[in-house]
Amino acid sequence: MPVILGIETSCDETGVGIVADGVLLGDALATSMDEHARFGGVVPEIAARAHLHALTPMVTHALDRAGIGFADIDAVAATAGPGLATAVQVGLAAGKAYALTLGVPLYGVHHLAGHAAVDILDHGPLPERSVALIVSGGHTSLLLLGDLARDPVIHLGDTADDAAGEAFDKVARLLGLPYPGGPAIDRAARDGDPAAVTFPRPMTGPADPPYRFSFSGLKTAVARWIERHDGPLPVADVAASFQEAVADTLTRKAVAACRDHHVETLLLVGGVAANSRVRALAEQRCAAAGITLRVPAPRLCTDNGAMIATLGELLVSAGIPPSPLTLGADPSALLTGGTIGGPH
Ligand code: KG4
Ligand code: ZN
Repeated sequence: MPVILGIETSCDETGVGIVADGVLLGDALATSMDEHARFGGVVPEIAARAHLHALTPMVTHALDRAGIGFADIDAVAATAGPGLATAVQVGLAAGKAYALTLGVPLYGVHHLAGHAAVDILDHGPLPERSVALIVSGGHTSLLLLGDLARDPVIHLGDTADDAAGEAFDKVARLLGLPYPGGPAIDRAARDGDPAAVTFPRPMTGPADPPYRFSFSGLKTAVARWIERHDGPLPVADVAASFQEAVADTLTRKAVAACRDHHVETLLLVGGVAANSRVRALAEQRCAAAGITLRVPAPRLCTDNGAMIATLGELLVSAGIPPSPLTLGADPSALLTGGTIGGPH
């Protein structure tokens, strides 16, 4: 079984994972999150420099944890996009260097396809067809997936403006909660009443496109509510009510997409899939609709190296040709397949 080294550096996480036969042999993760916290968002230059410092130690850690050496690596997969240009470049350059020196193929892969692939580690091979709801800091998409390595990815709908994670991060700032906002809102919402404020469920009207999203208006609705509010801000209630609006909107559309396309499996992935309410509501609604829900463990939902290695393994197993070492980072790569520039 080929052993794949995966490298992820698209945002503020330096992730390295080693996967073989659908099993995570070892991984390591460093984050520059704390260095960005005082700016309220990721600063690309800081992230890129942090990747440069962390990458080699993370590769060493992951190899140690897997109990293997460089000679055991059969292929290298690295995120080639989308993401912060300078950050992606660090991991992709490292991936090329490892591939070249080890004499193994390089796969420049699509970050979002990695988010979907990682569920294999938790729940085994993906079904022939599935609907994937990818919800991250930069993207929100409902997709129709076939074979992730071979088939083109079909976009049912994307977000017209802010991504779901971006909305969490922005609303957290409005509430005076720290960056990253998603986990902070998730925690604050535990003590809040999700019915305290009825925030809008964007793009859910009968005339709206059924699988598209828009979160910028919801963020503005929270901002207006806060502006109008007198007295101490009920942070927990607003957090819970906002979270409920996002969870309701996401899961409603995802279940409708499965039903309309006669797909039995929903794959819920990306950083926002770590959200406790999004997970719970998805479980409840999928169970009611007879849909099998697959959600990776929270630590595999947020950016990590294992997801890139898992996708790399799919590509290797499918006999997909490797990327040329001249491959450039593509910061705004559209999701069309597993590799950058795919389908093949
Ligand atoms: O997939 P990801 O780690 O990175 C990107 O590819 O963007 O997603 C990061 C996003 C951030 O916006 C973060 O606030 C959000 O995922 N996030 C969460 C939670 N954990 C991370 N959002 C809601 N609830 C969470 N528990
Ligand atoms: Zn991501």
